[in-house]
Amino acid sequence: MHSSNALPDLSGRRVVVPGGTGAVGEGVVRSYLAAGADVVVPTRTEERAEEFRRVLGDAATDHLHLVVHDYTTFAGAEQLAEEMERRLGGVDDVVAPIGGWWAGKRLWEIDESDWQNAFIGLAAAHVAVLRAFLPRLNARGAYTLIVGASAFTPVPGSGLVSMEQATLLMMRQVVEAEVAGQQRVFALVLGPVRTRLVDSGDPDWVSAEQVGAVAVAASAAAAVGGLEIRLRSQAEADEALAVLQGDQPIRTGAVVAVSTMEPKNGRREDLLEVLAELAPQIRAEPGCLHYSVHRPRGDADGPLLVIQRFASIEAFTEHSASVADQIPRIAALLATPPMPPTLFEPVP
Ligand SMILES: NC(=O)c1ccc[n+]([C@@H]2O[C@H](COP(=O)([O-])OP(=O)(O)OC[C@H]3O[C@@H](n4cnc5c(N)ncnc54)[C@H](OP(=O)(O)O)[C@@H]3O)[C@@H](O)[C@H]2O)c1
Repeated sequence: MHSSNALPDLSGRRVVVPGGTGAVGEGVVRSYLAAGADVVVPTRTEERAEEFRRVLGDAATDHLHLVVHDYTTFAGAEQLAEEMERRLGGVDDVVAPIGGWWAGKRLWEIDESDWQNAFIGLAAAHVAVLRAFLPRLNARGAYTLIVGASAFTPVPGSGLVSMEQATLLMMRQVVEAEVAGQQRVFALVLGPVRTRLVDSGDPDWVSAEQVGAVAVAASAAAAVGGLEIRLRSQAEADEALAVLQGDQPIRTGAVVAVSTMEPKNGRREDLLEVLAELAPQIRAEPGCLHYSVHRPRGDADGPLLVIQRFASIEAFTEHSASVADQIPRIAALLATPPMPPTLFEPVP
């Protein structure tokens, strides 16, 4: 079934988009305005505000509230939240596409100002906004972080971006555990995006407005709890909309693969050696979240248990292909023919 591209009606919703003046932020702001929401876009400078109003053109309706304000400090974010409560009576949703790209140095070449700007400054801005706004949202609203897939794919020369984005993904997971279902916290994880600054990409790239449409759908999907949603292709964007619009069951994505291996008599150490040798390669796979080998407690004889966790079923399939040539080596050390692992998925 195809998901609908029509935006839901968010009239009356009050949405704040810190970082909304940016390349991705523009698509987010346009989508919420098109859905009828009141959209507050704070920006740190008057020049950015003027430029952004020009960029939006006719889309900058009365529902756009462009305010020059430094929201990147704890005090600044708190003042903005108080001001929204005073002027608009509250806040319903937050989308945070704060920060951009940084490149040019390997980790050991960075200086303190790189560290402060590309890691500390951006992470602090996200935490400032989260702590000011999250406690003010109700269960209907959504808090949506925007990050890049560099959070789990190292890009040489852009390590600070990867580290900061990985921090934000973990921040979402921590917050999700802490709010215990009382609020909805999303992360949209982007590949390269077609924006006003880069419009010549692959047609499979998602556009900034598609990112906005998914954020709007997350706001509207009151029955859907927080999720990490990957938006690296048109297919992933379609799937995200289908899930948020209730056309597909919610899949959290992660897959746990459990294998039991009974070694031949006297070959357990050899089997452990092969599994230990494979560990670094498997852990380095982009979709592998966990790999561990277990023996019976007290080092007694018995089968070994291999537990692996993958970000998605596709990641598990890629893993299976990449270790296929190792199966005969492992099989030669087993008492019984190897079986495919049993797969488990989280219960929503
Ligand atoms: N563009 C892409 O292709 C792409 C791909 C993957 C992921 N992403 C992710 O999407 C998010 C937004 O990216 P973007 O390309 O839209 O970035 P951008 O064009 O640079 O915009 C980011 C906005 O964040 C605000 N900001 C606040 N503190 C900042 C700081 N210390 N340094 C830089 N900007 C700061 C700025 O708004 P004010 O100056 O108005 O306050 C700026 O307009 C990022 O998390 C990025 O990793 C983008």
